[in-house]
Amino acid sequence: MLKRKLELREARVGIIGLGYVGLPLALLFSEQKFRVTGFDTDAAKVEKLNDGRSYIVRIHDAAIAQAQKTGFKATSQFAEIAEMDAVIICVPTPLNEHHEPDLSYVTRTVESIAPHIREGQLIVLESTTYPGTTEEVVVPLLERGNPGGLRVAQGAEETGVHVAFSPEREDPGNDMVKRHDIPKIVGGCGQAAAELATAMYCSIFKRVIPVSTPAVAEMTKLLENIYRCVNIALVNELKQLCMKMGIDIHEVIEAAKTKPFGFQAFYPGPGLGGHCIPIDPFYLSWKAKEFDFVTRFIQLAGEINGEMPYFVLEHIADALNAHRKSINGSKILVLGLAYKRDIDDLRESPSLTIIELLRDKGATVCYNDPYFPTVGRGRHYDLNMTNTPLEDLGQYDAVIIVTDHSSYDYRKIVEESQLVVDTRNATKGIASPKIVRC
Ligand SMILES: NC(=O)c1ccc[n+]([C@@H]2O[C@H](COP(=O)([O-])OP(=O)(O)OC[C@H]3O[C@@H](n4cnc5c(N)ncnc54)[C@H](O)[C@@H]3O)[C@@H](O)[C@H]2O)c1
Repeated sequence: MLKRKLELREARVGIIGLGYVGLPLALLFSEQKFRVTGFDTDAAKVEKLNDGRSYIVRIHDAAIAQAQKTGFKATSQFAEIAEMDAVIICVPTPLNEHHEPDLSYVTRTVESIAPHIREGQLIVLESTTYPGTTEEVVVPLLERGNPGGLRVAQGAEETGVHVAFSPEREDPGNDMVKRHDIPKIVGGCGQAAAELATAMYCSIFKRVIPVSTPAVAEMTKLLENIYRCVNIALVNELKQLCMKMGIDIHEVIEAAKTKPFGFQAFYPGPGLGGHCIPIDPFYLSWKAKEFDFVTRFIQLAGEINGEMPYFVLEHIADALNAHRKSINGSKILVLGLAYKRDIDDLRESPSLTIIELLRDKGATVCYNDPYFPTVGRGRHYDLNMTNTPLEDLGQYDAVIIVTDHSSYDYRKIVEESQLVVDTRNATKGIASPKIVRC
């Protein structure tokens, strides 16, 4: 019985997709003495992990070595799925060039594992996606791809393979909430799947919240991220109004935060970044079309947040103009590539857009970010740049703070620069005519 094996930590756990979500999850299971196998199509990641090395800054090599002591290993061989008791899928769910869900990583994964799944196994999808994915996409693909005709167990019956959805709630860079303290939502295809998934996550999370269906769990994750996306858009819009009115939005937010109920603080910035907030809401907008429904809040928030790098560009132009300079021909240093403070993730980062916009306007752009020695080519950018040391700041016509890494000495940066454009309120408390906040 899988439930008993899970309770005794005898179940073997397979994690597919060893990225920002999958690798920490694998380590969490290892900490609880589960024997974990990580699956990834990226041979370089597999090799590094098996050498005891990490490729995520906040995960130290020692944590990999420790996990190896309880049997952790990585592989690209999907046939080994057959040896697992539980399999968790954590592969990317980006948008395609038409801003529509790209489920190809999920479907490819399910097609790769379908021939190897077996009776009694538990398969859980953790990748963020639209409601209906688990039951409408994952289940049929698993059943179709299994040569033995294995079915997905439904209801309370225990025969077949068990399938569930459980959203990931990782908050990179947040050291205040420990991973095992983040409550885990679980929605199973049937009661047996829900119970098994709950039993599995209870061994690594303090609190597991079962919901009635995978679709409820899928929608829960989207609600959480849409809530953030819409509220960030709201403060981004109010920031623009406040600037026209000569009011400091950050002072307003700090004052509003003192209300002990009914208000949660969100902060304006140069635009959204990361693999979640700029992307996930559009998974729902796309699905809504099937129901002839327009998600207006999501659209509006997407518009406002998407315009923020252009808003920053305008303010850089104005700031340079006040110094009798133009963007064209200026030498500009962008501080921070990561999409948020103190992390090594630049996916969808507004810095990348701002750098490209500045270059398009004829600026010579350099960047500094302690987390990225170089930046090459990604899905939406092609920069080919190398980190510039944080020195001789006077040589730049403007220094733009796009990511407020805590390792920066902002007072020193302001002292040494000709002009600082601050998009994050990182220079709070520093009074200088050189600073333009936007
Ligand atoms: N990063 C976050 O903070 C975060 C938070 C919550 C939810 N999520 C969601 O979790 C999912 C994974 O995100 P992530 O940030 O870990 O992505 P990631 O890009 O860091 O990692 C994904 C990993 O999957 C591997 N991979 C891709 N296709 C594969 C395949 N067919 N088989 C095996 N491995 C494959 C990649 O090589 C990579 O190592 C996404 O759906 C994302 O929306 C991410």
